[in-house]
Amino acid sequence: MSSIINVVNVTKVYKMGEAEVWALKGVSLEVADREFIAIVGPSGSGKSTLLYVIGGLIRPTSGKVYINGVDITTMNDDKLSEFRHENIGFVFQMYHLIPRMTALKNVMLPLKLRGLSGREARRRALEALKLVGLEHRANHRPTQLSGGEQQRVAIARAIVTEPKIILADEPTGNVDRKSALQIMDLFTRLNRELGVTIVMVTHNLELVRYCRKAARLLDGRIVRIYTSSEYRKLAEDMTRGV
Ligand SMILES: Nc1ncnc2c1ncn2[C@@H]1O[C@H](COP(=O)(O)OP(=O)(O)OP(=O)(O)O)[C@@H](O)[C@H]1O
Ligand SMILES: [Mg+2]
Repeated sequence: MSSIINVVNVTKVYKMGEAEVWALKGVSLEVADREFIAIVGPSGSGKSTLLYVIGGLIRPTSGKVYINGVDITTMNDDKLSEFRHENIGFVFQMYHLIPRMTALKNVMLPLKLRGLSGREARRRALEALKLVGLEHRANHRPTQLSGGEQQRVAIARAIVTEPKIILADEPTGNVDRKSALQIMDLFTRLNRELGVTIVMVTHNLELVRYCRKAARLLDGRIVRIYTSSEYRKLAEDMTRGV
């Protein structure tokens, strides 16, 4: 399998006046096409920073990020934003849906921004809503949906442009266990049936089991990558904090 994401020796230093925070201290990570990988680690270890560097939302201080063989670290802002829209779908812990719009309109938005006709955008948005099992909620506004449903709408919005990669930052952090498992089943289907590569940040070891691999961060460094047969060891290591 070829690698779709290649992070090479990335550092990220946040400057806070005089103070510096080294969020990433030389991270390298290769993610194969069609992989489903978790990023785990304690709070503040750099998980979100790594995810956003991969997605081009944050520029690394040094190092390289290649997506599909393309170096995104040297792209200008316009090019990068276009590249992101074409290749990557984001799912965040807070769903970031637009409150005054229905589920359908929220999912249509990325397509409208691409200049698709209303009719075509509507057709594809309904398809995406169907895929997440919410076509019957198409006309509900976010406040008329449960947390789990709102997150599934956000996932529909992320996949409606058919990205090759989904980057998810604690996508189940705000939903109950049943909805969390539903979302993981959905990610598994997207990964297996549509071949979407998924990188998911999570704190939850129960959810890591859905992923084929887990990269563990500690203090800005990847300390180990665990395959699914090593998840018992991962649980032990996380408990011990080593
Ligand atoms: N914009 C910022 N400016 C300054 N420091 C930041 C900024 N964003 C993150 N940091 C710091 O960088 C480090 C890594 O943060 P990051 O958000 O990547 O951690 P995380 O592993 O996602 O944590 P959590 O599990 O709590 O979400 C932390 O020490 C954090 O305080
Ligand atoms: Mg985070």
